[in-house]
Amino acid sequence: DVPVIAIDGPTASGKGTVAQRVAQHLGWAVLDSGALYRLTALACMQNGVADSDEAEAARIAAGLDVQFHNGAIWLGGHDVTAAIREEPVGVFASRIAAFGMVRQALLERQRAFRRLPGLVADGRDMGTVVFPNAPLKIFLVADVAARAERRCKQLKEKGFSANLSSLMEDLQARDERDRTRSNAPLVPAPDAIIIDSSNLTIEETVNAVLDHWSK
Ligand code: CDP
Repeated sequence: DVPVIAIDGPTASGKGTVAQRVAQHLGWAVLDSGALYRLTALACMQNGVADSDEAEAARIAAGLDVQFHNGAIWLGGHDVTAAIREEPVGVFASRIAAFGMVRQALLERQRAFRRLPGLVADGRDMGTVVFPNAPLKIFLVADVAARAERRCKQLKEKGFSANLSSLMEDLQARDERDRTRSNAPLVPAPDAIIIDSSNLTIEETVNAVLDHWSK
């Protein structure tokens, strides 16, 4: 059995970076499940599929022609590494992520990322739905101000424009959608360890996760 460390939490909680670093440290593979929702969103946007069209979004999700290599993400022969990080794509992703058919269409694709010696899986429902038997489940939280600042910095580093107060509103709306949806709502698994990273550096957060793994 391939061991999985599930790292779930709300938007901009730092999960992505923490998952990458933990995986790097252990020499494990990493699954950025949010990227699959973002890729589905981008493909919908490119094909004129509305964010209310569950069946069409699920069909797109099932047929995604995606490749992950060396940190780059390719969709149908195009490098979309930067494009999927844009805020409108994230907002669209969070809308279609509420659809059960879309989540179902992406389920096996996510499980297929498991390979020895292990997998670090980053998302919203890694510990609750996708890898319920994961031996370590982390639920990473941070207060909304810390998360908005991180997202703002991250977007600016990528050359996108960003406004702190509109980001804060966007994060709260997204949190609300993720928490209240009926399909795989954003809640910690009963056996998850909750880490609040509001006042932790990335390195401290990574070390906290690694400490739990070595216990
Ligand atoms: O960190 P951020 O919210 O910007 O985005 P992400 O992790 O890349 O995921 C984009 C969207 O996909 C989120 O807002 C979630 O609504 C959704 N998602 C999900 O429902 N389940 C997952 N396992 C991962 C992402």
